[in-house]
Amino acid sequence: MNNLATDILDSLPDPVLLLDAGRIVTRANPAARAVLGDLAIGRDLSHSLRHPDALAAVDGVLSEGGYRGVEVALPVPTERAYDLQAVAAPGGEPGALVIMRDVTAVRQNERMRADFVSNVSHELRSPLATLIGFIETLRGPAADDPDARTRFLAIMDAEAARMSRLVDDLLSLARVESREHIQPETALELGPLLKDVAEALAARSDVPVALDIADGLPAVLGDRDELTQVFENLLDNAIKYGGDDVRLEAAAVARIPGIGLPGACIAVADAGPGIDGADLPRLTERFYRADKARSRSLGGTGLGLAIVKHIVNRHRGRLVASSALGQGSRFTVHLPSADSPPAP
Ligand SMILES: Nc1ncnc2c1ncn2[C@@H]1O[C@H](COP(=O)(O)OP(=O)(O)O)[C@@H](O)[C@H]1O
Ligand SMILES: [Mg+2]
Repeated sequence: MNNLATDILDSLPDPVLLLDAGRIVTRANPAARAVLGDLAIGRDLSHSLRHPDALAAVDGVLSEGGYRGVEVALPVPTERAYDLQAVAAPGGEPGALVIMRDVTAVRQNERMRADFVSNVSHELRSPLATLIGFIETLRGPAADDPDARTRFLAIMDAEAARMSRLVDDLLSLARVESREHIQPETALELGPLLKDVAEALAARSDVPVALDIADGLPAVLGDRDELTQVFENLLDNAIKYGGDDVRLEAAAVARIPGIGLPGACIAVADAGPGIDGADLPRLTERFYRADKARSRSLGGTGLGLAIVKHIVNRHRGRLVASSALGQGSRFTVHLPSADSPPAP
C-alpha cells in the first residue's frame, strides 16, 4: 500500500482491517487497534474479534469472494454496536478488507424513539380508558342517576384535561427540539419577565413566592415565551412538590461554571421534601418522575423538566439541579449575557 493510501486509512474514524487469505490481520488502522487491541496484528482475527457471525462473514468472503455484512455488538470497553462489512481484498490480492462502522448512537436513538412512543401511548391510554369506562356507565347503569352523572362528569373533565395537557406538552417539546440548534437573537431583560412569572404563579396558588432580583442582572439573548415557560415550569414544580418557602432568585455571575462566560444565574428553590440523589440526574428525561403517584395525582405530565432542559440548551445555558432528601431543592438556570461572544 502506498503512503497516501496508508495515511487515508490511518485517518479514518472507522476501524479498517486487512486480512490475508489465512485470516491473519496484516494491517489495522488506529481506530481498529483501539477497538481490537494492539495485539490483533499478526494473529488470526479470532484472537481479537470473538464474534461467530463476524468470523463467519469474513470466512465466507475469504472462500468465495464478494461481500458480506453483519451487525456485531462488542461488550468491551463499553458496549458498542458495529455494522461490519467484509469484502474481498482490493487489487485482486488474496485476503479480505474489513470495515466496521460504529452504529451505537443510531441504535440508541432507535431505542429511545421506540421507548418514547410506547411511553406516550401508555400515558394517553390510562385517561382514555377512564373516559371510555365512564361513557359506558353513563349510557347504561347511571343513565338515570343525576348524582352519579355529576360526579362522573367531574372525573371525565379532569381526565380529558390531563390528556390535553399531555398533548400540549408533547407539542411544546417537539417545537423546542426542532429549533434547539437555532440560537435566539433578541436581547431580553430578565427582571420584568421573572416578576411577571412569579406574580402569575403566586396568583394561581396559595403558596407565596419570594422574589429576589439583584441589581445589575445582564440582558440575555432569549425567546420570551420559552424563558417564561422555563421559570413557570420550575416554579410550578417548587410549589407542587416543594410547597414550602418557595424562592426565585436572580443575580449576575462573572463566569458561568462549565461555560466560562459572564451571565445571569436564576435559581428556583424550595424547602420541601427534596429529591433522592439517585433520581436527580434523571429528572430531565422525558416522563421520569421521582414520585410517580404524587406527580400523577397533581396532574403532572413528566415532561416539564425535559422541556426546560431543551430550552436552556437552545439558549446555550446550563441547568443544574441540586437537592437532598429532607433539604429542599434548588434548580439553577445559567444564561450567558447578551454581549457574550457567539457560540462557535
Ligand atoms: N422542587 C421539587 N421538589 C421535589 N421534587 C421535584 C421538584 N421538581 C421536580 N421534582 C420531581 O421531578 C419530577 C419531574 O418533573 P417534571 O418534569 O416537571 O414533571 P411533572 O411535574 O409533570 O411530574 C417530578 O415528577 C417530581 O418527582
Ligand atoms: Mg412539572
